[in-house]
Amino acid sequence: MTYTLIANWKMNGDLTFFHDYFRAFEGFSFPENAQMIVAPQAPLLSAYKPNRAIKLAAQNMSEHSSGAYTGEINASLLKSLEINYVILGHSERRQYFHESNALIQEKAIQAIKHGIKPIICIGESFKAYEAEETFKVLEKQLYEALPKSATSDEFLIAYEPLWAIGTGKTPTLDEIASTHAFIAEKTKSHGAVSILYGGSVKASNANEIMAQTHVHGVLVGGASLKPDEFKAIIKAV
Ligand code: PGA
Repeated sequence: MTYTLIANWKMNGDLTFFHDYFRAFEGFSFPENAQMIVAPQAPLLSAYKPNRAIKLAAQNMSEHSSGAYTGEINASLLKSLEINYVILGHSERRQYFHESNALIQEKAIQAIKHGIKPIICIGESFKAYEAEETFKVLEKQLYEALPKSATSDEFLIAYEPLWAIGTGKTPTLDEIASTHAFIAEKTKSHGAVSILYGGSVKASNANEIMAQTHVHGVLVGGASLKPDEFKAIIKAV
């Protein structure tokens, strides 16, 4: 199995940072079963040519194919830049930009139509977690946000509990294992979907998280900004 490791830089990193980061990975020996994907701010997507070792992902994309949508980015531009992945429905987009499951589904359909794999993010709030409603929330998100007819080779899922993002807190390993098993079960009509875990992943916990059944990689925010830390996360595969 190939593990997918995504560095989600969010709104961090300028051109100098970008070049320094990739320089830090020159000569790095990637484990054979690891795929690294960097998601920088959009204008940087054309500053590096994705290759076998490192791919790029956009952090967002329009649900429209083209036209008068000032400030948006379309799938065909991404595809022409050889960008084969896009993160969709990250909780920050849901929270600050009011993205709904229905919108995320439209974007995912648009991405897949252009041969771009969406990494569809789902996750429960702390309130839902405390109320033991995690599975209920996830089931709804999966039902409403996943493109119904997509097959498992066309998209990935990232399970990111909202309360674990940028907080240093993570669910227990048992909770991660059971939630991923639940997602695998709920999505099996699509095939064996890759399910990544995200939320406060760092070098010190990456190995035990990725050792769980149905965890096929990680989506990393804060810790991905330091090349040495991210290298250690990749080595944890
Ligand atoms: P974090 O962010 O690793 O900083 O918790 C993860 C994410 O939001 O994708």
